[in-house]
Amino acid sequence: MITSFGSINLDFVVALPRLPRPGETVSGPDHQTFPGGKGANQALAARRAGAEVRMIGAVGRDPFADLALANLRAAGVDLSGVRALDGTTGLAFIGVDPSGQNQIMVASGTNKRVSASWLKDALHPGEILMMQGEVPGPEVTIAIEAAHAAGARIFLNPAPIPDKAYAGLAREVDVLVVNEGEAEAIGAFLDLPGEPAGFVEALATGDRLVAVTLGSDGVLAGRGDELFRIRPPKVEVRDTTGAGDAFCGALAAALDRNAPLGRALCEAIAAGSLACAATGAQSSAPEAREIAMLADTLKAQ
Ligand code: RIB
Repeated sequence: MITSFGSINLDFVVALPRLPRPGETVSGPDHQTFPGGKGANQALAARRAGAEVRMIGAVGRDPFADLALANLRAAGVDLSGVRALDGTTGLAFIGVDPSGQNQIMVASGTNKRVSASWLKDALHPGEILMMQGEVPGPEVTIAIEAAHAAGARIFLNPAPIPDKAYAGLAREVDVLVVNEGEAEAIGAFLDLPGEPAGFVEALATGDRLVAVTLGSDGVLAGRGDELFRIRPPKVEVRDTTGAGDAFCGALAAALDRNAPLGRALCEAIAAGSLACAATGAQSSAPEAREIAMLADTLKAQ
C-alpha cells in the first residue's frame, strides 16, 4: 500500500507557440483542463502502475474539487482521506510550448492547509508514504517523524525546488527523487556537491535510494554501493508536464512490490518517458502493462 500525502490541483493548460518571458503575454488558441497536483499525479501514476494507493490531501468546497479528483476516483484510489475545506481547490496555470517544455504557476488554495494529523491510522510497517513539495514543509516534517515511528518507508520528491527546511529532510528519508535543479538547490543548502554524481554519492548512504532524473538523459541513481545509470527510450515529446510524477509513481509502485532496484528504475524511466507522449499530467500516466513492455527494452548499467 502506498499513501500519497500531497497536493491536489486542477490544471488549466494552454498550448503556446513559445513560453513567455517576464512581463510578456503569449496567446494560445484554447485551453484544456486536467486533474493535476504532484500528490494526486503521483498517486494516480502508482495506481496505474499496479499499486494499492490512498490519497491524503485537501480540496475546496467548490466546483473544481470533483474535476480535480475525477481520475483518482475512476482509477480506484482510496479517497477517504481527502478532506473538503472552506476555500479554493489548488489551481495550476500551465503553458506548454511546441517542444513539450512547460511553465507552471500554482495557486495552492487548500493544499496549504493539509495536516499531518490526517495520516493517523494510515502509516504501517513496510508501507510507503510518498510526499512532494507542494504542501507545507512543517507538515511534511511531522509526517516523516510519524512514518519513522510507524516503521513506514518514506519516499520524498521535494519538487518544485525546495526551500532550506525541505532540503534538510533529504537525510531523513528512504527514497529521495530530485531533478538536476533540485539536486543543485539541496546541495547548496546542505553544503554538498550539487552535480548528479556527487549528489548521489553524498546522500545515497546505507539503505537510502537517491535518484537524480536527467530529463532526456534518463536517471542516475544510487543506494549504498549500488550505482545505476539508465538511458531513456526515444519517444515523441508532446508535453513533459507530469513526467517526473509518472517516474515517482511507477518507482514507488515497483518498490512497494519489492522489485529488484534496477528493474524498478527501468519501470520508472519507462513510465516517465511514456508520460511525455500525451498532453496533461494525469491523462498521460501509463498502465502497468505498457510500463512493463517498455521497461523490458531498457538496461540498468
Ligand atoms: O508536476 C506537475 C504538476 O505540477 C501539475 O499537475 C500542476 O498541478 C503542478 O502541481
